[in-house]
Amino acid sequence: VTPPAAGRKGRVWLVGAGPGSPDLLTLRAARLLARADLVLYDALVDPAVLALAGRAQRFCVGKRGGRPSMDQETIHRLMIRGALRGKRVVRLKGGDPFVFGRGGEEALALAAAGIPCEVVPGVSSALAAPALAGIPVTHRGVASSFVVVSGHAESAYRSVLGSLGPHSATVVVLMGLGSRAALAAFLLGRGWSPSTPVAVLLAAGSEDAHAGRATLATLGTWAPPDALADAPGTIVIGEVVALGEAITAAGRPGGSVPLVAAVEGGRHAGSR
Ligand SMILES: C[S@@+](CC[C@H](N)C(=O)[O-])C[C@H]1O[C@@H](n2cnc3c(N)ncnc32)[C@H](O)[C@@H]1O
Repeated sequence: VTPPAAGRKGRVWLVGAGPGSPDLLTLRAARLLARADLVLYDALVDPAVLALAGRAQRFCVGKRGGRPSMDQETIHRLMIRGALRGKRVVRLKGGDPFVFGRGGEEALALAAAGIPCEVVPGVSSALAAPALAGIPVTHRGVASSFVVVSGHAESAYRSVLGSLGPHSATVVVLMGLGSRAALAAFLLGRGWSPSTPVAVLLAAGSEDAHAGRATLATLGTWAPPDALADAPGTIVIGEVVALGEAITAAGRPGGSVPLVAAVEGGRHAGSR
């Protein structure tokens, strides 16, 4: 490991790791990882991405639902301390650093400490998960807009989804697996059709990627395969989901991306 140059001013890059595999990383992210002295990464970051940071010290500062995690202040302190010691610090965050990842707070903490910081966008799971399953979030004549909401509590989506006319946009939900029944009930209560197609996209961009298919009527009883019970998931709601089946009907050159599978009455029909 090369020690940071004496007297060199440290800096921090808030880097998006994309949704999973290293080939969905930006070239800039890969280059910064290769030159980093210290990498502070989220739990959802794929080990193959971390492997690109060959010479750096690496610490997981990540959070996963229900498990103890480092508090935000400690993450700020670690970034600032590393930079003050002259290190090139990469704060590596899943997807895009500024989409539901508290990246803004981290950037503000660095600015307050006078540490130079650059944000490197990543491919957010909000876009990558549907795209990898062949689902276009907009499609002429089907959906001319999409909204991305956090599903972790009704207070997080009530105002946006409550103001949407039924079927007026594709709805992409992050952090919504645990509240999928409440989410479905919310939309049904606002006039969305029970037959509205829904995709539940688990571990998108990784080798374990898995796509489940439901409707608003069955989303509440949909269950992930046991092996993916803790996997991150993105929910896509709207008629565009049905296009995913047509778009993937001829298969994929890579063969590794699962097709959207049928789910009946909450039982998963399998889709690897
Ligand atoms: C705290 S948010 C961070 C989102 C991240 N900044 C991004 O742009 O993708 C974490 C949520 O993103 C979604 N997510 C992250 N990785 C995912 C993946 N590989 N497949 C599907 N959804 C994912 C899940 O909804 C998860 O609960």
